[in-house]
Amino acid sequence: MAFRSLDGVDLAGKRALVRVDFNVPMADGAVSDDTRLRAALPTIARLRAGGAKVILLAHFDRPKGKRVPEMSLAPVAGPLAALVGAPVAFVDDCIGPDAAAAVAAMNNGDVALFENLRFHAGEEKNDPDFAAALAANGDLYVNDAFSAAHRAHASTEAIARLLPAYAGEAMRRELDALDAALGSPQRPVLGIVGGSKVSTKLDLLNNLVAKLDYLAIGGGMANTFLFAQGHDIAASFAEKDLADTAREIMVTAAAKGCELLLPIDVVVAEKMESGVASRVCDLGGLSPADRILDAGPKSVARLIAAMDKAKTLIWNGPLGVFEIPPFDAATNAAARHAGALAKAGGLIAVAGGGDTISALHHAGASGDFTFISTAGGAFLEWMEGKELPGVAALQV
Ligand code: 3PG
Repeated sequence: MAFRSLDGVDLAGKRALVRVDFNVPMADGAVSDDTRLRAALPTIARLRAGGAKVILLAHFDRPKGKRVPEMSLAPVAGPLAALVGAPVAFVDDCIGPDAAAAVAAMNNGDVALFENLRFHAGEEKNDPDFAAALAANGDLYVNDAFSAAHRAHASTEAIARLLPAYAGEAMRRELDALDAALGSPQRPVLGIVGGSKVSTKLDLLNNLVAKLDYLAIGGGMANTFLFAQGHDIAASFAEKDLADTAREIMVTAAAKGCELLLPIDVVVAEKMESGVASRVCDLGGLSPADRILDAGPKSVARLIAAMDKAKTLIWNGPLGVFEIPPFDAATNAAARHAGALAKAGGLIAVAGGGDTISALHHAGASGDFTFISTAGGAFLEWMEGKELPGVAALQV
């Protein structure tokens, strides 16, 4: 896929409308994790250096087309200004006379942040009139919000058809990393998919078995596969009604030459609580009250051996209940091994999706990965092989 980038674009004096994802975690009305603010800094810096007026468009939460004061983007302006190292003017509306007046008052290199796009119903409806009202304040459009690119909204889709549209720096890095992981990867490619439910990751599993050389399945969803294979999973969580689906995925994997790595041993306990007695056992060794809460050491050793053979790793979802030690052991060991290989240059390790990022942070391995996506839903849809409207709109 080819995208328009900012290379060679004359930015001097241009009003650049930049879609960013500032849907950041907040606690007590203040930004509690600024990862997504930092992700936008290279594009902001590049535009400012080129003499553009930088107008940031973003959503926060889901106000459903109404002005909800608790969902204002105002608390983002201060922390962003500190990171940019320059004032960030907060503008109370993203369209209309206030927005126009604020833009008219900007000098080259200035930065403004517009209020939550989703205060207007037209945003989520991908309404052309709303997109035109946004576009009225810009000479060009930059999308730097890969994590919102799975939404066909006015600020991600319709607006890209009204102004010259470019991929920002963070968007480019995401697309390059994702292409290296799944588009045209160095083989063998290993996937790790965890999390509790098969039902939420069906499309993803079906897409991955067609593309990967190895796929390790962990977390609660592995129980569904073990059950489908006829193993006794005792009192473990599983979606037993999806046993047929799991079997179909296993058949497809075999037909496509993707080796599935399901747990061969497990860590069990009677309750999912910290401090409970737990033990490692082989499949077949569970007592009736046992619940599988993590993969066991033999499974981890086999996964690590696959990692050693792989050139590329794509990871979504933890292998066990990593929030409650000791059920974090498999995730920690696999994450640290992947991180070490990536750091040494032997593995392209890409990860993304909500829980995955916290699991890798928890393991202390996130800094060593080749790339960690800031996206949740968009990363999943991309792993499912779906076209993301916000990305498609930037294609040449
Ligand atoms: C995210 O946080 O994943 C994106 O900002 C998308 O948010 P949404 O799920 O509310 O569209």
